[in-house]
Amino acid sequence: MTDAELVEKTIDFIKETLENAEGGHDWYHTQRVFKNTLLIAKDEEVDVLVVSLGALLHDVADAKFHKGDERIGPRKARKFLKTLGLPKKPISHVVNIVKHCSFKNSLSKHKKKRFNSRELQVVQDADRLDAMGAIGIARAFNYGGFRNRPLYDPEIPPKPNMSKKEYKQAKGPTINHFYEKLLLLRDRMQTKTGKRLAEERHQFMLNYLEQFYKEWNGRI
Ligand code: ADP
Ligand code: NI
Repeated sequence: MTDAELVEKTIDFIKETLENAEGGHDWYHTQRVFKNTLLIAKDEEVDVLVVSLGALLHDVADAKFHKGDERIGPRKARKFLKTLGLPKKPISHVVNIVKHCSFKNSLSKHKKKRFNSRELQVVQDADRLDAMGAIGIARAFNYGGFRNRPLYDPEIPPKPNMSKKEYKQAKGPTINHFYEKLLLLRDRMQTKTGKRLAEERHQFMLNYLEQFYKEWNGRI
């Protein structure tokens, strides 16, 4: 198969897999991450097939929707990639991207042992961009609604330095998620294009929060 055919097959597979996914983690999220991945990769020396497949498969089975089980996603990705007849090396690389893409993994303590590659960083930046800006805000409130969380509760302060375990168990209001993740992303971008695109989205979220508090406090 050509690279284009491999990508097409992966798109078909992931569209089907994510058919009933939550609105913020559906095929369109994956499509946006895929597009941003290609944009970021233009300025990076990376294996384009590996980042493409990594982006397409990164949320194949997000642990949040599988009782916190982080093994299902990588396992599903490997099983699918084997059906494409790819060699072992790119399969392992893509599986490692699926395994390590998530923000919460960057909160775990075992920094040294953790897998890393430029390809992983490209997909991570693309995924994180989609957690920011107008779309990031929409996704956060959609997820909050999905979990029946309050929009905001002035009595519950955000916890910005949570461990991975605490982060996974967090049940706070959606506004807190801005301080626990969304506003931290700009400074964690790892590529030139990612850093550039994050700037406007970050500012948009700050403006949004300012307006939110104004309206909350009846100062309009
Ligand atoms: P990752 O899956 O990369 O570890 P998250 O678990 O934060 O990252 O989930 C990805 C997206 O899901 C977030 O960017 C956000 O839109 C939404 N989300 C996750 N947790 C929350 C939360 N506690 N409140 C609101 N939105 C959330
Ligand atoms: Ni994602």
